[in-house]
Amino acid sequence: MNYNEAKEKLAACGQTHLLRWYDTLTEREQESLLQQIEELDTELLQVFADYRKSSEQARGKLAPLGALTLEEIAQNRDRFEAAGLDAIRQGKVGAVLLAGGMGTRLGFDKPKGMFNIGVTRELYIFECLIRNLMEVVDKAGTFVPLFVMTSEKNDEDTRAFFKEMKYFGYNAEYVHFFVQEMAPAVDMEGRILLEEKGRIAASPNGNGGWFSSMQRAGLMNLLHREGIEWLNVFAVDNVLQRIADPVFIGAALLSGADMGSKVVSKADPEERVGVLCLEDGTPSIVEYYEMTKEMITSREPDGRLSYNYGVILNYLFRTDSLESGADKRMPIHVVEKKVPYIDENGMLIEPASPNGCKFETLVLDMVHMQENCLSFEVDRSREFAPVKNKTGVDSVDSARELLHRNGVSL
Ligand code: UTP
Repeated sequence: MNYNEAKEKLAACGQTHLLRWYDTLTEREQESLLQQIEELDTELLQVFADYRKSSEQARGKLAPLGALTLEEIAQNRDRFEAAGLDAIRQGKVGAVLLAGGMGTRLGFDKPKGMFNIGVTRELYIFECLIRNLMEVVDKAGTFVPLFVMTSEKNDEDTRAFFKEMKYFGYNAEYVHFFVQEMAPAVDMEGRILLEEKGRIAASPNGNGGWFSSMQRAGLMNLLHREGIEWLNVFAVDNVLQRIADPVFIGAALLSGADMGSKVVSKADPEERVGVLCLEDGTPSIVEYYEMTKEMITSREPDGRLSYNYGVILNYLFRTDSLESGADKRMPIHVVEKKVPYIDENGMLIEPASPNGCKFETLVLDMVHMQENCLSFEVDRSREFAPVKNKTGVDSVDSARELLHRNGVSL
């Protein structure tokens, strides 16, 4: 794209200010800026305009969804585990680590997985995850293909770290990195921000694009060649995460469901967690702030909360159903955030409060694209230790405490 074409594209959507510093840039920077403008998804500006008109997204009719409970799972454990191990041994299961996030709440400037959660020794978040996966590998007698999603911001560091740490004992041939896409940030008036005079402020486009990013990275050939039928997608920050859990996989397979989701019983009715439920008859996740008081307190005849099962970002999807739904456009969420930017005087501003918006797709929206879902309860004290914040709830401290209680030496 040349300068005039770029100017025309930007004029059509009221964004010509992105060329304000063009004449002051080096030739290389100019080329890079034109390239960024060429790749710019201007449809996002319409998403922003719609968001400004109404920030509330209309929901369908919500209804509770139960779960395969801990007791039921315990009764069928051997049967489920055998079916799961069988699928793993046949190479039908892959795992997808979502590690493209910015981890801003933790305030650590490296990829979150590089955070050392050890106290008297080094124990990295990535290491915790690989160790957990190794337990399955040892039991199954075969490695599980592991796909690691990074972003432009942390790809290099992540790959270098795995290499330096010799993949924490994992077989490197089974580890495949791929990079997610970026999305531009806008100010509260919908003007795209610059983070440098020749660079549009952009950030990873949310965790919902993982499958399309895998497709774009050319990984479908590998999935087909290896016969990978199921993908277990999980977040980087839960250090007690059970990955490719054969009991979960076996239960999902035997249930005939399109997908499975690990869930935990809510700690209390007001817990700030997304709840797996039904929306217009198909699985969906309702966020805690979208629930009415009545939904929050409603109980079933057995005394359990009707909306009881919180998600922990550990899902099992069928590859074929993801592929057949690939052309469905996922909802784009607009999130207000602090976005550093270059002001009209060319000064870098680091805002203290949210000054702009980012665009994200979310993996939880993929749940609603499936016909049915096995809701699979797990014990939160053994499987849920998220590291989101520096201190307090879901923090380094709470995760350390839970690791310790699970016998992990720190
Ligand atoms: P979070 O929603 O906690 O986002 O991600 P985050 O970016 O890691 O953290 P904050 O909000 O800035 O503090 C949940 C999971 O989704 C991944 C994260 O790496 C984490 O495993 N994720 C998130 C991505 O892979 N890409 C994204 O664009 C966003």
